Amino acid sequence: AIDITKLRAETGYITMDQGYANTGSCVSNITFIDGEEGVLRYRGYNIEDLCEHSTFTEVSYLLLHNRLPTLEQRENFSLLLNQHSLLHEDMRHLYNFFPRDAHPMNILGTMVNAMSSFYTNVDLLSMREHIDMTATRLISKIRTTACYAYKKSIGHPVVYPKKDLKYCENFLRMMFWSPVNNYELRDDHVRALSVLLILHADHEQNCSTSTVRLVGSAHANLYASISAGISALWGPLHGGANQAVMDMLAKIERHGGKIQKYIDMAKDKDSSFRLSGFGHRVYKNYDPRAKIIKKICMKMLEEEAAHQPLLDIALRLEEAVLKDDYFLSRKLYPNVDFYSGLVYTALGFPTNMFTVLFAIGRMPGWIAHWKEMVRDPKARIGRPRQIYTGMRERQYLPIEQRT
Ligand code: ACO
Repeated sequence: AIDITKLRAETGYITMDQGYANTGSCVSNITFIDGEEGVLRYRGYNIEDLCEHSTFTEVSYLLLHNRLPTLEQRENFSLLLNQHSLLHEDMRHLYNFFPRDAHPMNILGTMVNAMSSFYTNVDLLSMREHIDMTATRLISKIRTTACYAYKKSIGHPVVYPKKDLKYCENFLRMMFWSPVNNYELRDDHVRALSVLLILHADHEQNCSTSTVRLVGSAHANLYASISAGISALWGPLHGGANQAVMDMLAKIERHGGKIQKYIDMAKDKDSSFRLSGFGHRVYKNYDPRAKIIKKICMKMLEEEAAHQPLLDIALRLEEAVLKDDYFLSRKLYPNVDFYSGLVYTALGFPTNMFTVLFAIGRMPGWIAHWKEMVRDPKARIGRPRQIYTGMRERQYLPIEQRT
């Protein structure tokens, strides 16, 4: 490999790579992607196998510890996740300061950042020593935080986690159960949620994970680093795309299902509109995550007739896009966000919770990257360079002389 620092010292050259399309920022053994072939593996395991046989709890353990847990290790991890699932009661007061219509992603980022104050030992040394405890806290509490945000938005009392329920069961119950409804957990819903969270659990150096690493490289604590990652994920070009897809499908439906109009708009270089849920920086083939979600979506929505119109539009849109030269020549295929919103809707989640679900799924990946970084003896503070295009030097004028 070229020693860039030496090269710059000798030649003054800076590598210019806007959007870091071809710049490696670290060495990692967590996730492997082959974008040309549509392959995704966590710690060497194919995503298809993990989705078929594993659970989100088990995959979280795998990402954090680089091995699948034994039965005993998985039971212990589940137990710890339940033990850490409550939020500090004082944190609940913070919810009262948000307006009722605050976006839950905003609440989530703020709450995770606030955890630095409620849970002590946040300096790097202590966090390194207590990383398993902090990881367990974050993975468990982000789910409770999200459910509280939702309950606040609809003006309902919060539902506390139950110790005899598993991760996804507890999540669905905290979201949808209330003392006056008959909400009952369904196995197929629990399984669908678990698979969706597995599919979001890591994706190497994407925008939010790189943000977590960059903030963490300054030795900011893990809560603060992850809160920054949540902000990055909120953007509509990243995790916010799942919400944008549903808004787009609903709009197409309102406008009489005229798909071609939206395809033409996305191709028009004078418009800033893009088809949400299509294209990916790394995948130049069908996103393997989208394939799995599409299958779940078809299976679930067969039974949920109420959501059929949007599924129908999504299927027609995909079919038309995959025949269109503009999209084919640029290798723009459905990505993870294209079908996930339809499944979330069938599970009962409102649109503004979709990106929150992405964040909950991504949590073990963010932590695994932070952990890998702080343990790397070669890790340095992240500090990209730039090409300066401003004025070379200007003379300072007193305010009376300025025109
Ligand atoms: N609709 C229409 N045209 C598109 C789309 C799209 N969804 N995506 C890319 N293009 C076009 C671009 O206009 C560009 O065309 P050009 O070569 O004529 O200039 C070409 O395809 C390459 O696009 P880039 O923007 O250079 O690709 P980049 O890798 O920077 O961006 C991104 C990837 C952000 C995902 C992009 O495809 C996009 O905006 N997609 C829609 C938003 C979305 O679905 N985001 C979720 C991504 S998955 C995730 O973050 C979890």
